[in-house]
Amino acid sequence: MDASRLPFPIRRLAGSDADQYRALRLEGLRSHPEAFGASLEDEEARPLPWFVDRIERNVVFGAGSPAAPALMGVVGFLVPETAKMRHKGVLWGMFVRPDARGTGLATALVVRVLEHAAQVVEEVRLTVVTSNTAAVRLYTRAGFEQYGLERRALKVGGRYYDELLMAVTVGRSAQVR
Ligand SMILES: CC(C)(COP(=O)(O)OP(=O)(O)OC[C@H]1O[C@@H](n2cnc3c(N)ncnc32)[C@H](O)[C@@H]1OP(=O)(O)O)[C@@H](O)C(=O)NCCC(=O)NCCS
Repeated sequence: MDASRLPFPIRRLAGSDADQYRALRLEGLRSHPEAFGASLEDEEARPLPWFVDRIERNVVFGAGSPAAPALMGVVGFLVPETAKMRHKGVLWGMFVRPDARGTGLATALVVRVLEHAAQVVEEVRLTVVTSNTAAVRLYTRAGFEQYGLERRALKVGGRYYDELLMAVTVGRSAQVR
C-alpha cells in the first residue's frame, strides 16, 4: 500500500511540533501503560526541549485527518548508531487517538515508516505485548512476522506482560495484506 494514496496527511515531525507530540505521547502513556516500554512518570517530568531533541534525533511521523489537522497519531523510527546494528531499524511509540482508530490511520503510519526504512535499513523490528491484539493485527497486516517471545518483558503495576518480537524485511516497497 502506498501511504501517499491514503486519506491521511502524514508528515515527518519537526522540533516545532514538540508541544503537540508531547501531548499525544503522554496521552498514550497515560491511557495504555502496558503498551509501551516507557512510563508516564518518567516522560511527564521531561521538559519540552527533551521532546524536541527526541524528534530531531529520531524520525517521528505524525498524522492528522482530513477533518482535523491536529495530530491524531504518531509513530517513531530509530536506527542504532553502532555500525554492527545499523542494518536494522526499530519502530517504536505507535499511538493513535481512540477517535481515529479503525480508520486505517495506524496502517498508514506503519506504511510510512516502512517506506522510509526501506531507504536506510534492511529490516525493521518492534516489540508488542502479546495481548495487544489491535497492534499485533496491525503489524501482521503490514508484513511483520514473529521471530521471538520475551516472557515478562514489562512489569506494570505488579503485573507482568510478555512481548512478541516482530520483524519485517524492507528494501522493497511495503506491502499491506
Ligand atoms: C495499536 C493501534 C495503533 C491500532 O490502531 P487501529 O485503529 O486498530 O489500526 P488501523 O488504523 O490500521 O485500523 C485497522 C482497522 O480499521 C479497519 N479499517 C477501516 N478503514 C480502513 C482503511 N482505510 N485502511 C485500513 N484499515 C481500515 C481495518 O479493517 C482494521 O480493522 P480490524 O483491526 O478489525 O481488522 C491503536 O489501537 C492504539 O493506538 N493503541 C494504543 C497504543 C498501542 O497499543 N500502541 C502499540 C504499541 S506496540
